[in-house]
Amino acid sequence: MRIARDLATLRAATARLGPRETLAVVPTMGALHAGHVSLIQAARQAGATAVVASIFVNPLQFAANEDLARYPRDETGDLAALQAAGCDLAWLPTPAAMYPPGHATGIEVVGPPTEGWEGDARPGHFRGVATVCAKLFLQTGAGMAMFGEKDWQQLQVVTRMAADLDIPVRVIPCPTVREADGLAMSSRNRFLGPEARAKAPALIAAMRAAAARIAAGEAHAAVLADAAAALTGQGFGMDYLALVEPATLQPAPPSARRGRMVAAARLAGVRLLDNIPVPESNT
Ligand code: PAF
Repeated sequence: MRIARDLATLRAATARLGPRETLAVVPTMGALHAGHVSLIQAARQAGATAVVASIFVNPLQFAANEDLARYPRDETGDLAALQAAGCDLAWLPTPAAMYPPGHATGIEVVGPPTEGWEGDARPGHFRGVATVCAKLFLQTGAGMAMFGEKDWQQLQVVTRMAADLDIPVRVIPCPTVREADGLAMSSRNRFLGPEARAKAPALIAAMRAAAARIAAGEAHAAVLADAAAALTGQGFGMDYLALVEPATLQPAPPSARRGRMVAAARLAGVRLLDNIPVPESNT
């Protein structure tokens, strides 16, 4: 596996990796776990002949009060994991390589997929994500981009951005990878203490139970209010738990029995995000 830390090295290396159409990029912020590794495997399954993974903790997508300094970093472990997963090229730009002095351009998706939920909770977050992803697509020239469904709203925002800018890249959604007890894998899970870690799967359990009730015909507003109250009683700080239209993230109409259930909850200082299709088999 080659490693590039500046744009000239990246461009020379990607030029040797074969045709654009079957070059896949796996954008990450490092602290890699099995969910990230699954994106590399998914790229191969989708026909990628070469995979470039980026590791860049993107300052633009963290608000001033957020955990940029505390975000986990493990370059040695990450490079070993990428190598073991069969990645061809690791793109590790420095902040100055990604945003050289004078950098002044941002990409902002204005409209439904960015409105509400994470868009409200983290002002500026999706502008940072869209900007860095547009740059990663253009820098690598990849024709495929692998994104986990775990960050459902991010996946919709990036898909919209690539389409709107006519970037010739297919954004490919990949299923959320879960721990054995159901907790969605996330680099931030390592901050959960033993007690919070034991409690965390209650979120997905409540979501799955709620999805079954909605699919069986109960009104989603009442079901989700019940579930949120129960989770609050267990110590979760609920930011939201809602049924939305999958591509636009607009709230589902009261009679809806299908859609995407999205949730964000704080547990012992760690923010947990999850989402599932409703009905659950509706992937
Ligand atoms: O999901 C992430 O890890 C990040 O938001 C991404 C897509 C790598 C952009 O920085």
